Amino acid sequence: MPARVLSVANQKGGVGKTPTAINLAASLALADQRVLLVDLDPQANLTSGVGLKGHTAAGGTIYEALTGEDVDSHAFVLPTQMAGLSLIPANRNLTGAEIDLVPLPQRELRLRSVLDPLRDSFDYIFIDTPPSLGLLTLNALVAADAVLIPLNCEYFALEGLADLVATLRRVRGALNPQLDIAGVLMTMHDERTNLGQQVARDISTFFGDRVYTTVIPRNIRLGEAPSHGLPAVLYDVKSRGAEAYLTLAREFLARERANLPEMEGQHG
Ligand SMILES: Nc1ncnc2c1ncn2[C@@H]1O[C@H](COP(=O)(O)OP(=O)(O)O)[C@@H](O)[C@H]1O
Ligand SMILES: [Mg+2]
Repeated sequence: MPARVLSVANQKGGVGKTPTAINLAASLALADQRVLLVDLDPQANLTSGVGLKGHTAAGGTIYEALTGEDVDSHAFVLPTQMAGLSLIPANRNLTGAEIDLVPLPQRELRLRSVLDPLRDSFDYIFIDTPPSLGLLTLNALVAADAVLIPLNCEYFALEGLADLVATLRRVRGALNPQLDIAGVLMTMHDERTNLGQQVARDISTFFGDRVYTTVIPRNIRLGEAPSHGLPAVLYDVKSRGAEAYLTLAREFLARERANLPEMEGQHG
């Protein structure tokens, strides 16, 4: 079956997008899924988080993939040190893409064109997006089957969500009618505080059963792992942060499989 493409998106910075992309992808790779990570943030934290800072594939980085003509998508995929986990890297050049894409034909569809030929080679493709609702994030939402929204359990968690929801509606109306919400993930949760609990309740009220049962705690190992160029699930698999992402991967897979279209008449 061709890969499902998921965008990890929230235009707020520091909500856990990058650690969610890395650790959910790595957890799925540990569960024998073939996973591709796509770094669409000019800060390139995803690329450094899997230990590939400064690395370029034969065809270049995501910047060259997005701005080139008739590119061979496979030439942008790098293996990581983890079996089953691959990466299309980014570097600072991507900063220019918000402007350089503007005059190009089909500027919102460029990432979709890059990723579609790769769907047959993977089970899941995760796109890590920048903290804005610009042309890069728009490309990610147009390329995706579904969006995964991390929300940090802090006071302003829900602020700005109206903008994201409006953007999703716009994308559905114009360029990607199938775009779904895969799930809403509560991150950086501190259960010792009343505030954390109140925010968690507010998020559940707003998004209902779209919210994953798994909650990602605030955990120092999740902050440390990127400086070692390793997913937390490899850096310290026993840490509470790593355990939470492994649990999330199980919940994610169960939900994905429950959402598969019915296949009439197929009995093993
Ligand atoms: N659950 C967590 N516990 C502790 N630190 C975290 C957690 N999630 C992310 N961080 C750290 O918080 C900072 C915020 O950035 P990040 O989550 O990468 O933001 P973004 O949503 O912009 O990708 C990073 O240094 C990251 O390592
Ligand atoms: Mg990030």
